[in-house]
Amino acid sequence: MKRIYIKGRKKLEGEVLVSGSKNSALAILAATILLPGKSVIRNVPNLLDVKTIIRVLRALGIRAEYSGSQPNTVEVWNSNVKHVAPYELVTKMRASFFVIGPILARTGLAKVPLPGGCAIGSRPVNLHIKGLEALGARVEMEHGFVNVWGKNLKGNRVYLDFPSVGATESVMMAATLAEGETIIENAAREPEIIDLAEFLKAAGANISGAGTEEIRIQGMAELFPVEYRVIPDRIEAGTFMIAAAITRGNLLIKDIIPDHIEALVRKLKEMKVDVEVNGNEVRVSGKDGIKAADVKTMPYPGFPTDMQPQLTALLSVAKGTSVITETVFENRFMHVNELNRMGADIKLEGQSTIVNGVPGLSSAPVKVSDLRAGAALVLAGLAAQGETMIEDRDHHLERGYENLKQKLTRIGAEIRVV
Ligand code: EPZ
Repeated sequence: MKRIYIKGRKKLEGEVLVSGSKNSALAILAATILLPGKSVIRNVPNLLDVKTIIRVLRALGIRAEYSGSQPNTVEVWNSNVKHVAPYELVTKMRASFFVIGPILARTGLAKVPLPGGCAIGSRPVNLHIKGLEALGARVEMEHGFVNVWGKNLKGNRVYLDFPSVGATESVMMAATLAEGETIIENAAREPEIIDLAEFLKAAGANISGAGTEEIRIQGMAELFPVEYRVIPDRIEAGTFMIAAAITRGNLLIKDIIPDHIEALVRKLKEMKVDVEVNGNEVRVSGKDGIKAADVKTMPYPGFPTDMQPQLTALLSVAKGTSVITETVFENRFMHVNELNRMGADIKLEGQSTIVNGVPGLSSAPVKVSDLRAGAALVLAGLAAQGETMIEDRDHHLERGYENLKQKLTRIGAEIRVV
């Protein structure tokens, strides 16, 4: 049982260095399945989720490990690839399902368990499967496994009914070794898609349009191992930006890419938070008088769903009433009840919440249901009167935030973990 105790009302001040992107690192490590030989991935955050995908790679017969000599570096030696991904690892972390495309493209056969749903939704994979079938794969579900066959994948036009990040990644990876051209329409435009495409291009893939809604991939006979540095984590950066605002502190957040945090910057400025983006750094200082604002989560470049719980915590102590609409996941409001236990005044109405700002929050025992809900509770605890106890039984926070306790302590938080 992991318990985090936070004494609130401490202004956070100083500098924070953002770690590498969890979601980009997971997709890129899955993509190493396509590359025979030794690849080196840098700026990889030291996270439980990364350790899980490393265990998946090992289960596929691939040698993968954090480098002993270089920090945040994962080395992968890839020769023959097995085609069955282990049940207990894929159900533990849904992102492991992304290995299905690369295994299929590399070996002609993949058997990957259906990933579990999680707190934020049922998390179907129908679009991943539709994409692989479009490339000529035969797909069967059997005993909770997705079995796909396809010795010679052929490029095709794939329309994604929803710009799914994972489905875009699955199809893009499989298409790099398919014969001919693949066009992904209504593709996800997230920065992690661009990072994956840049990684694959460095390995010899022929990809254009990543970051737009139409991605074209010309299949190649084979790809080659590479060294690559992962982009910084825009959601970790955003979480610390809100930490500065909610504690009325003053933080300089380093190693950011301005475009990746644009939607949040605009929203915080609308709320009268001081935000100054300067190259690869952003300074955020909170003061009294933060104002309410409405927000609707959208696929990139809209406001990111992964920042919705964290912004909800900030809006709960803003002046006025805010309406927050979640359009990406069907159940991403698990943090609301917990925030209300801390004195927030939030009402659920279908896919929206109505947040009536209150003057302050007070500490209470709360529970973490999923990664970003946990981040919202940490932010609320940093602002609350008294000591908040956050129960994180499934270690969600460790899965998604590198050295969170150390980073917060260094900028003035009073936090202890039991
Ligand atoms: C990725 O998940 C991220 N995870 C999520 O971050 C992020 O919230 C999400 O993209 C949206 O930005 C990783 O990259 C590892 P989707 P993914 O496919 O790919 C529906 C975090 O906190 N859908 O874009 O699973 C789905 O149900 C995590 O770091 C289908 O219907 O997200 C959801 O409603 C949480 N069929 C919507 O699309 C499919 O085949 C968006 O899902 C696939 C998805």
